[in-house]
Amino acid sequence: MSGHGAAQPMTARRSGPLRGRAEIPGDKSISHRALILGAMAVGETRITGLLEGQDVLDTAKAMRAFGAELIQHGPGDWSVHGVGVGGFAEPAEVIDCGNSGTGVRLIMGSMATSPITATFTGDASLRKRPMGRVTDPLALFGARAYGRKGGRLPMTLVGAAEPVPVHYTVPVPSAQVKSAVLLAGLNAPGQTVVVEREATRDHSERMLRGFGAELTVEAAPEGQIITLTGQPELRPQTVAVPRDPSSAAFPVCAALIVEGSEILVPGVSRNPTRDGLYVTLLEMGADIAFENEREEGGEPVADLRVRASELKGVEVPPERAPSMIDEYPILSVVAAFADGTTIMRGVKELRVKESDRIDAMARGLEACGVRIEEDEDTLVVHGRGSVPGGATCATHLDHRIAMSFLVLGMAAEAPVAVDDGSPIETSFPIFMGLMRTLGADLSDG
Ligand code: S3P
Repeated sequence: MSGHGAAQPMTARRSGPLRGRAEIPGDKSISHRALILGAMAVGETRITGLLEGQDVLDTAKAMRAFGAELIQHGPGDWSVHGVGVGGFAEPAEVIDCGNSGTGVRLIMGSMATSPITATFTGDASLRKRPMGRVTDPLALFGARAYGRKGGRLPMTLVGAAEPVPVHYTVPVPSAQVKSAVLLAGLNAPGQTVVVEREATRDHSERMLRGFGAELTVEAAPEGQIITLTGQPELRPQTVAVPRDPSSAAFPVCAALIVEGSEILVPGVSRNPTRDGLYVTLLEMGADIAFENEREEGGEPVADLRVRASELKGVEVPPERAPSMIDEYPILSVVAAFADGTTIMRGVKELRVKESDRIDAMARGLEACGVRIEEDEDTLVVHGRGSVPGGATCATHLDHRIAMSFLVLGMAAEAPVAVDDGSPIETSFPIFMGLMRTLGADLSDG
């Protein structure tokens, strides 16, 4: 759990060139899914490269509470002895998902069609986030949710004793909602259908197939139609978790804006549902070479060679948002160092992440001397080639806000501090050490 300890201020100072190799930890989205599907398979799933960030550790704890046996053999190397689809036991304790929206929403989906009841909570950030987007479709299966006003945690979910399959069009582009419905569909008889107007990350679909579920994806005028046949026997797998492109974004963007830098970031996913940031950076004029393209853990990956670059502002189209939804905070930092204006449209989903990320970035960038404009669905950053810095930015229990402002401080004229860097632990526990090895001037306090 994050957000329960003391705040940990951190400071970044203008840094010398960043040099070297940045080994990024495992993908957070895929790590959650590997644990949950491992728990729903019969037998032993072996996972390597699991992200041991707090978010994923909270999901591991939850899977134990539902009756799966999890063993850590070594760093990132785990076994999950699953109980089978429909085999979850009723947890004897409250499920605390800490800071993780992905964790709580996917776990709710995975238990919603079993005749058990569970109570979920999280930290102050997660307790503010909307759960109705998940509990509404889960109610169609027959599950019932009792939460606070506005569908907030803590919340008790009573799973459906006699679930029915569901046909659901996801109203907001959200891989978490899509995945919650698919996981619930596993224990419903017949076919569960999810319609997505805009494609979001497809790790659940890839992994469900890998575990032996029957799942098809068809393109249609209304979007893509995902059909899952319920009540399969999931077969345990060996899952090699690829590195997280959303974490890789921080050293990549740091290298682009810190003068004279050249770094190599091996094995970054090029899954088209995740690579919107990289497409945007290339449009801005970033010097990124994609070397040694190959497949790892079922995902297309490449080694990224990144050199400091002269960048220009761009307009990011709204339809690209789902493929880079977690990368707008760090993109807005890069945009501040670019020449000209960067316009990010169609980004209102950022307001319901670990924090209101439009507001958090806007306030921190302004404090650092960057001119911005915002409305409900748009963030505009007026780049000026250099950034004064010299401020302390509030992170609002949001790991990506913390890392974004620390990267800003590596290239700003005056130091940039964050009021609390402790949430970095949720997704990228080695961030401080790794960035220091590359040459970043970072300090605690
Ligand atoms: C995730 C989906 C995205 C993303 C989150 C991880 C996932 O959220 O922001 O960090 O693993 O499914 P939404 O589903 O809310 O878009």
